[in-house]
Amino acid sequence: MKIAITGAKGLLGQELAKTLSSEHEVVCFPGHKEMDLADASQVRDFVATHHPDAIIHAAAKRDLDPLETDPESAFHNNCVATYVVASAAREFGCSLVHISTDAVFPEDRNEAYNEFDEPSLPPTIYGRSKYAAELTVRRALEKHYIVRLPWIFGRTGGPEKNFLVNLYAKVRDGKKTVAASNQLTSVVASVDAVEAIRRMVVTPHYGVYHVASPEPVSRAGFLKAALELAGKDTSFVEEKTVAQMNRPAKRVHYVALRSLLLEPMLGMTVPSWRERLAEIIADLRADGYVD
Ligand SMILES: NC(=O)c1ccc[n+]([C@@H]2O[C@H](COP(=O)([O-])OP(=O)(O)OC[C@H]3O[C@@H](n4cnc5c(N)ncnc54)[C@H](OP(=O)(O)O)[C@@H]3O)[C@@H](O)[C@H]2O)c1
Repeated sequence: MKIAITGAKGLLGQELAKTLSSEHEVVCFPGHKEMDLADASQVRDFVATHHPDAIIHAAAKRDLDPLETDPESAFHNNCVATYVVASAAREFGCSLVHISTDAVFPEDRNEAYNEFDEPSLPPTIYGRSKYAAELTVRRALEKHYIVRLPWIFGRTGGPEKNFLVNLYAKVRDGKKTVAASNQLTSVVASVDAVEAIRRMVVTPHYGVYHVASPEPVSRAGFLKAALELAGKDTSFVEEKTVAQMNRPAKRVHYVALRSLLLEPMLGMTVPSWRERLAEIIADLRADGYVD
């Protein structure tokens, strides 16, 4: 199968390209500096030239606070770009795997959201732009998969895109990382997100999938576990409440994802984040990011 990937230089895109290229022909859209995915003629030319069977759309702007004060960027990079990519997929008969997020959900209950819950009123500009992108994909073509992911951790992305790499770099410099103690969400390792995509992309089982580890965790709790598992002093994470952090974009107190479809449709379950985190720390250590 020939698979084209957008956002292939990002945290998830790098893991996708690496894994999928072992069994498929993978072509990566050029990076953002070379091609803006909101440029319809460039995207169309790329798809016309390579004619992939599937496009995995992993490109997006995802940093909550900059987007909250720059909605134009959110709607250009997350909505217009998705419209353009989905239109090209429809025109050339490709299936489309669209990467979405738990940020499409409101914070209105203490129960995990599954694939049959409909997003509404996302509390941030980022969430609104990603929900609009989902709707765009649903309307544009039948052959689509929407993959909602919570906070992603992984081994790729380097200092620019990987918060674990930054956490350990700060510890090395004797600096603390501030993290919220009362922001509880699901998390997922990029390798598990990629495994779900690897399985779904060869099936006709279109629709919405949630991919997340089973237990939600606070931001601070996760970062402290990352230090503990790496043999570092956990006091390098300073806990604050969401209110104390007072960031431009609203931080939810609890939004968790649960999958009802991964197991029946793709024969897959997602392991605990703790298990995956230990493996990823070993990879980051081998790459020289953890002492
Ligand atoms: N990271 C998370 O915790 C998380 C959680 C849930 C869902 N997601 C979703 O997962 C997907 C992948 O996220 P990620 O963490 O891999 O993000 P990432 O590391 O920031 O990578 C995204 C890539 O997309 C590129 N991009 C953005 N707008 C573009 C445009 N208009 N044209 C061309 N390229 C563009 C970015 O380039 P520049 O940086 O140069 O703009 C970047 O290389 C996104 O859809 C995101 O919303 C992420």
